[in-house]
Amino acid sequence: MHERILVVDYGSQFTQLIARRIREANVFCEVRAPGALAQGLEAGPPKGVVLSGGPASVYGEDAPGLDRALLSLDVPVLGICYGMQLLALDAGGAVRPGKREYGRASLRIRRPCDLFHGFAAGEEAAVWCSHGDHVDEPPAGFETLASTPDLPVAAFRRTDAPVYGVQFHPEVAHTPRGSEIVRNFLFRICGCAGDWTPGAFAAEAVERIRAAVGGAAVVAGLSGGVDSAVAAALVRRAVGGALTCVFVDTGLLRKGERELVERTFADARLVVVDAAAEFLEALDGVADPERKRRVIGERFVRVFERAARETGAGARFLVQGTLYPDVIESTSSGGPSAVIKTHHNVGGLPGDMAFELVEPLRDLFKDEVRRVGRELGLGERIVGRHPFPGPGLAIRVLGPVTEARLAVLREADAIFLEEIERAGLYDAIWQAFAVLLPVRSVGVMGDARTYENVVVLRAVTSTDGMTADWYPFEPGLLQRMSARIVNEVAGVNRVAYDVSSKPPSTIEWE
Ligand code: XMP
Repeated sequence: MHERILVVDYGSQFTQLIARRIREANVFCEVRAPGALAQGLEAGPPKGVVLSGGPASVYGEDAPGLDRALLSLDVPVLGICYGMQLLALDAGGAVRPGKREYGRASLRIRRPCDLFHGFAAGEEAAVWCSHGDHVDEPPAGFETLASTPDLPVAAFRRTDAPVYGVQFHPEVAHTPRGSEIVRNFLFRICGCAGDWTPGAFAAEAVERIRAAVGGAAVVAGLSGGVDSAVAAALVRRAVGGALTCVFVDTGLLRKGERELVERTFADARLVVVDAAAEFLEALDGVADPERKRRVIGERFVRVFERAARETGAGARFLVQGTLYPDVIESTSSGGPSAVIKTHHNVGGLPGDMAFELVEPLRDLFKDEVRRVGRELGLGERIVGRHPFPGPGLAIRVLGPVTEARLAVLREADAIFLEEIERAGLYDAIWQAFAVLLPVRSVGVMGDARTYENVVVLRAVTSTDGMTADWYPFEPGLLQRMSARIVNEVAGVNRVAYDVSSKPPSTIEWE
């Protein structure tokens, strides 16, 4: 078992970003709710503890308090925002209630120390704050390390122990040198070595999977995407021949997808199920996006159950490539963010599902999954692939889905992607796809009036799918894409480019 940082989650929307910054530094960390610390400590003391921010006021009625067991571990502690206020209160200091303030601030370093190693005394650095209460004066036994124009104590530490607090958020991208501060805490203060690599993750995941499934048979769904491929590859490493990979051709896939999967998994136990007709029938007349997701999610599991029975493996476990962003966006209560869309691989599963789930990627962000995939030796064609949603093209044919409309979309989408690859832009883009609108537009081709479909092209940059920016293609390239689609895809007479970021839009249109 390697070194580990314990992150105590007081409910901040940024807690997972803290975890992410720590893991990017190759240090393993676990996130625990204040009420579940005992499990977090079972494996022995961590190298350090980070107390997250949170929406509560330390004076609130149900405000989670500081578990003193954490301080008696005698390991370094970093309190962020609410976490800092808990430390101040615990030390007998005062926390001043205030109204919530967000935004950038200029942090001035008052006292050089390990936490701000690399920052000169008096240096100013941009930081991002989001807090109501704050600490005005360091409690007895603490000293101020940095301040901002509004925060006299933007950072403090205990003088006789490695206990630090920062009122700003080093974990968010808006604090440009935040990673440096996190790394200072990990390496200079906690003495971490940085031994948690994709290889180490894979090795541990394999152990966990083995322990969870024992000798039982396992089915993994392959979608052609990186998540399901990496999840299946991990399980394959764990249970070998007990894994059957099932690829369901839902009829909602992109052009050439089935062939790619067949090529990539040529040497695995791969069952290809042609279920296109069944999916189309289930989707007949369904226009509502959330209903589409439910219908597809449900159908998907049924097809799986059947495939598992028919291949005779009698599988008890089902592998899902669920990622962390799917989990948080689908958790409405108890989770940090509201339901935005139901991701079919989490929320849409029928209650009577006859499988137990194996979700080895549940704690990972997309870029981490790719690193693990490379570690497992999966080819770049799969590992570097843009994400593709479980419900597939069904949520890109807006409104009711028909075979004919899917065919139009598939061709336009293939041309768009081909042009992106040809321009050498595939890896610079997080996700690119075409969308078929449920309206027709008037055009003129040759000398005739047309009344045909509109295709929207969407290409975004992102690091985790949680936020995204539209990709600024050169006009010449957009022109070529548009001309090719209108000329080569029968039934399309207009192409539009989507220039919306997320938020306020989402990446998909449905
Ligand atoms: P949105 O549209 O929510 O998408 O900004 C964020 C990322 O999630 C993908 N997505 C889905 N993936 N099932 C999935 O497996 C879904 O129902 C689903 N909806 C959106 C989307 O393609 C993007 O990568």
